[in-house]
Amino acid sequence: MQETKAPIGIFDSGVGGLTVVREVMRQLPRESLVYFGDTARVPYGSKSKSTICKYSRQIVRFLQTKNVKAIVVACNTASALALDELKSLIDIPIIGVVEPGAIMAANTTKTKSIGIIGTESTIKSGIYDKFLRKIDPDITVVSKACPLFCPLVEEGLWEDRVTEDIAGRYLHELKEYEIDSLILGCTHYPMLRRTIAREMGEGVTLVNPAYETAKALKAMLASHDLLNDQEAEPTYDYYVSDGDEKFISFANDVLTCPVKGAKIIDIESY
Ligand code: DGL
Repeated sequence: MQETKAPIGIFDSGVGGLTVVREVMRQLPRESLVYFGDTARVPYGSKSKSTICKYSRQIVRFLQTKNVKAIVVACNTASALALDELKSLIDIPIIGVVEPGAIMAANTTKTKSIGIIGTESTIKSGIYDKFLRKIDPDITVVSKACPLFCPLVEEGLWEDRVTEDIAGRYLHELKEYEIDSLILGCTHYPMLRRTIAREMGEGVTLVNPAYETAKALKAMLASHDLLNDQEAEPTYDYYVSDGDEKFISFANDVLTCPVKGAKIIDIESY
């Protein structure tokens, strides 16, 4: 297979990375994709750096067996804690979701006051703050872990009174600061976009790292001469570590292109 025709590997701790897949399909419609969701070991958001690095290494080894030409770490938590190590292990281009989201937020803010919401591990890592301050040391960052958002999304409660209530509790303290941009620093949060936007009010722009990552991926592939310029239909292959039926049902709610199957693999053996 010509290298430009090879698929892109995308991985996440579970289903959330499908929000990144959705953007990649929109912005790079000719690219074939191999997705892995670590549905047996999710959530990553409450786990330690060493565990997340071990899981991520196994997934990258699996994706390399599929001859991927590049890898997207669609999970914010894995991007925050494992991306640097992964970069040193492989010689194909790899990109995470944190840096593109941070760049976009820095370009969006006028008040130089930015909010970040994510999993406990992502927020504790301080990675978004680090990138933002590197871009502009005058930026002030306010962050908040929102651990209940992921299960709410996975239960399908995207628009629900319970979700409104939890969002109100999590987000009210962010409103005490003059933030004008809020980074949705977790794969699941774009699904709660409407609820979060209502809660934060009109003056706050929501930054979706999934959208920015797809843009950055396109630029990365172009700079390595890896963009697929062939007309042929792309292929989409899905792999999970458990619960294929639940995965397929969620995937069909998120993606416009029907997902008919997902193969279960033993990720521990990689
Ligand atoms: N995919 C994770 C992230 O973006 C959220 C779910 C989890 O905690 O594993 O951080």
